[in-house]
Amino acid sequence: MPPDAPLPAPCSLLPARFRLGVLGSGKGSNFRAIADAIAAAALDAEVRVVISDVESAGILSLARERGLRAEFVAPGRFKTKLEPEAEERVVELLREAGVDLVVLAGWMRMIKAPLLDAFPHRIINIHPSLLPAFPGLESWKQAFAAGASETGCTVHYVDAGMDSGPIIAQRRVPVLPGDTAETLHARIQVAEHELYPAVLRELAQSSSSSPV
Ligand code: GAR
Repeated sequence: MPPDAPLPAPCSLLPARFRLGVLGSGKGSNFRAIADAIAAAALDAEVRVVISDVESAGILSLARERGLRAEFVAPGRFKTKLEPEAEERVVELLREAGVDLVVLAGWMRMIKAPLLDAFPHRIINIHPSLLPAFPGLESWKQAFAAGASETGCTVHYVDAGMDSGPIIAQRRVPVLPGDTAETLHARIQVAEHELYPAVLRELAQSSSSSPV
């Protein structure tokens, strides 16, 4: 991300020291990158709660290993979104934990009104492509199958669409000869692990320099 890249405004209303709520459905390597940046004092933030819709998700184990609050919320009967009651529960947990910024880190469901309305312009996501290219599932496979010569990752604010919402920052990643979809995803993830903490740091710095 260029150091002087303008960031969209919503986070100017946040406190300088972010209290984060992290939502993830998978192994949690992006959460780990953020937690490591906080532990190394490279990011002035605090993870207040980690929530998953998958009881066995690695992200919950990683959170527990770090002594953080880790909560499973049963998703209900839908595949692509939470049951409304489940999403209300997520909102309740985030509020209880005093969260001011919601960080989606491998969260694989659409975000609906209860959460969007509870945290307006305060939900960010990381996606493994250069959006608007390749939204949706397994974007690295989409990029690979399309024969793209480069792809990357994007951090963006979350709105009601799928992987839409104002883009905050992107990193480019080349597709190299000999790549498989899996080696490509591994290279994208290296970029993600740099980009997500860097974006949070920039948002924190820009909010600490704005009047609240
Ligand atoms: C990451 O590549 C993330 O960008 C992607 O899921 C992976 C989670 O990995 N998210 C999406 O595709 C959301 N549309 P992680 O659990 O190791 O952080």
